[in-house]
Amino acid sequence: MPPDVDRVALGEVNGLDRPDFVALLGGIFEDSPWVADGAWASRPFAGVDDLHGAMVAVVRRAGTEAHLDLLRAHPDLAGRLAETGRLTASSTAEQASAGLDRLTPAEKTRFNGLNEAYRDKFGFPFIIAVREHTKQSILDRFEARLANTAEQERQTALEEVFKIARLRLAQLFRG
Ligand code: GUN
Repeated sequence: MPPDVDRVALGEVNGLDRPDFVALLGGIFEDSPWVADGAWASRPFAGVDDLHGAMVAVVRRAGTEAHLDLLRAHPDLAGRLAETGRLTASSTAEQASAGLDRLTPAEKTRFNGLNEAYRDKFGFPFIIAVREHTKQSILDRFEARLANTAEQERQTALEEVFKIARLRLAQLFRG
């Protein structure tokens, strides 16, 4: 069994077998346990940054198709899954941290329009480390990033996924 997933110590993680390691860390990258699976062989980790670096390296080594799959594993911000309570616990908490669970009807309409325009242009959802943002700064970045090229936006979205993963690890490890 994996240890208590509320708060864990890195020493415990370094001692986990592969299935327990993946069970504990499989959601650090949204719905993409292959990242934790690939990082397991790099134990022991000296610290949370080291663990994060190993996970980022797994993603960077993967090809463009895997990158697109990873981006597509994310739900829309303030989207239908959020409305119907079907987000992962991490995503629910992240979206709530920026007030995206309490939008006015006009704000909701704005997010819906931007989500659709972004998906139409890039083929994956808009991803941003929302814990570092306010509702307004998310909307500002949304508008600005819509002007990017597909290649720029794939890179930007991946960097945001790395930030989200680091923040999720901080929640898990307190640091
Ligand atoms: N930023 C932080 N969490 C999420 C998420 O679950 N989905 C998207 N699209 N962006 C996020």
